[in-house]
Amino acid sequence: AAAAAETATTTTNEDKNDVDVDVEVVVVNTSPIGGMRPGTSGLRKKVGVWKTEHYVENFVQCLVDTAVASNGGRMIDTIVVAGDGRYYNDEAIQTIARILAANGIRDIWIPQHGIMSTPAVSAVIRRRKSDGGGNDGEGIARGGIVLTASHNPGGPDEDFGIKYNDVLGQPAGEEFTEALYERTMKISSYRTVVRGGSSSPSPFVIDLSSPVGTRYDLTPSSTVTIIDPYRNYLDALRSCFDFDSLRALCSRAGFEMMFDGMHGAGGPFARRVLVDELGLSESALMRCDPLPDFGGCHPDPNLTYASELVSRMGLSPDGSAIPTLDPSTLPTLGAANDGDGDRNLIAGAGFFVTPSDSLAVICDNWECIPQFAMRGGLGGVARSMPSSAALDVVAEARGIPCFVTPTGWKYFGNLMSSRESYDGTDYGPFLCGEESFGTGSDHIREKDGLWAVLAWMSILSKANEGISDGEALVGVRDIVRRHWAKYGRHFYCRYDYEGVDSDAANQVMNTIREKFVEGGAALPDGSDSGIKLVDAVEFSYIDPVDGSQTSKQGLILNFKLTTGDPARVVFRLSGTGSSGATVRMYLEQYEKDPSKHDMSAPVALKDLAEEALRLVQMEKTTGRDAPTVIT
Ligand code: G6P
Ligand code: ZN
Repeated sequence: AAAAAETATTTTNEDKNDVDVDVEVVVVNTSPIGGMRPGTSGLRKKVGVWKTEHYVENFVQCLVDTAVASNGGRMIDTIVVAGDGRYYNDEAIQTIARILAANGIRDIWIPQHGIMSTPAVSAVIRRRKSDGGGNDGEGIARGGIVLTASHNPGGPDEDFGIKYNDVLGQPAGEEFTEALYERTMKISSYRTVVRGGSSSPSPFVIDLSSPVGTRYDLTPSSTVTIIDPYRNYLDALRSCFDFDSLRALCSRAGFEMMFDGMHGAGGPFARRVLVDELGLSESALMRCDPLPDFGGCHPDPNLTYASELVSRMGLSPDGSAIPTLDPSTLPTLGAANDGDGDRNLIAGAGFFVTPSDSLAVICDNWECIPQFAMRGGLGGVARSMPSSAALDVVAEARGIPCFVTPTGWKYFGNLMSSRESYDGTDYGPFLCGEESFGTGSDHIREKDGLWAVLAWMSILSKANEGISDGEALVGVRDIVRRHWAKYGRHFYCRYDYEGVDSDAANQVMNTIREKFVEGGAALPDGSDSGIKLVDAVEFSYIDPVDGSQTSKQGLILNFKLTTGDPARVVFRLSGTGSSGATVRMYLEQYEKDPSKHDMSAPVALKDLAEEALRLVQMEKTTGRDAPTVIT
């Protein structure tokens, strides 16, 4: 492979039209491999599965065929291929590039070192028209192949994934993924390129560390260009935020920040933005070098897995402040991103912000964010159903249309893209988010971990405008507590029961459905706690944009507390796990009285949790007396 790489690098800038005479397109016979149905976030499998013979090739050939079919039978002219840097990233990129070239895709864009965060890929698809590196400027990306399993661990025994984003930069919809799946059941051959002709074939290898602009002509009609991973994404962020005022915030006395990249793809982007553009020092970054196994960590930015950041922010794993630590000695803002840089965790000094609160606070502070302010405010906001209603309360008070969607970013994507590709309704400028640590807007069509960080920095910047040097800065905690005082607090917490036997997990759901949703009339009396179940519904959704219907999106138990205030518990099965089933229980309880807002969420929600677990017979059905993770 080393020798091949050496020869391949001669096909660069200088002699870019000098196609290697040795390169040949070959058709390889194959047969269908079962189990290739992509989920909402692409196909995720253990690395060992991806490494089986023809696996990547079969899947990518079917992906290309599906993309061509959905493009009216015309060949896709331009495609970006990038991954989150996890184990198998580079090898898969090489394989994929060969398949794409052999199929006649004219321009294949690969970022230097093969690594881009998921939001950055979305930005490339939406924005990149040309670069100095040999592209003529007529091309726009028709789509992107993103190699990621998001927040799942990486390594030889862990997960790898491939997903396809369409021309809008958003994950391909179900129609596409189903059509792709059907092809995987019928495939009989794929195309690829080899060097050395059929007598002594060897793979064509691209040097991913080549300078930006390097081109490899894989066939006379197909070229790989090594592109700058940062440029389009930076432009996207610059269109949202005022970098000058963020830079001023970063240089203020007393402002300190910690960013945890969890050894994923978000790290280099955070460095590029926070250090190179905004002037923070390198010491503000932790784990920002991508590693194939994420340094052995589980790259999911929550209280459990971002434990080092969490403790640096003066927090216990349950999100409460460590009482012995003086908040004035802690960083002003702490943030983490997941493996592919689309999720975010936000914390202040001794203060954890739940994703649902984060979304509501950003909504209420839209004036601080130029992207929204310059366009006259928010045209629409949305949250996933299991997220708390904190957003709804703000939206209602401020007269902003608010949507509650099933879990999954694609529902937001439809709302955001309605103007460009559906009925023309303009819901923008748009803000959306989920309890699962996803926040974003219509600057791209993926959630965006770094966008959320800059949104919070913008809010902090504005909140501290009137504060003179030497005075204590207004912090994250102050901002959120003021928000609660204004709108009330939605105590929120999620219990995850991971690796539950699938039958048992289904039984939990069926019990709730049969007993409380269908048998609604026979709602049981409250337990000793006085918490009363008042109604139960199963969430379904009719997409206002494309009219599609989605059912069975979570079971909602509505309660009335002894105070008369409402509370809610949602049960849902995870759609992203890779072994067994994960039952999620989402707890939410509204409290208007500011004197009660400083209680810790797990304490405030304890009785509600116990009552819900009792009603659904969690322990009896699953054998679990405690959740695996509480976030
Ligand atoms: C992915 C999607 C999110 C979604 C999450 C739910 O991260 O991109 O939009 O909220 O999965 O995961 P779950 O495991 O709860 O189905
Ligand atoms: Zn992710």
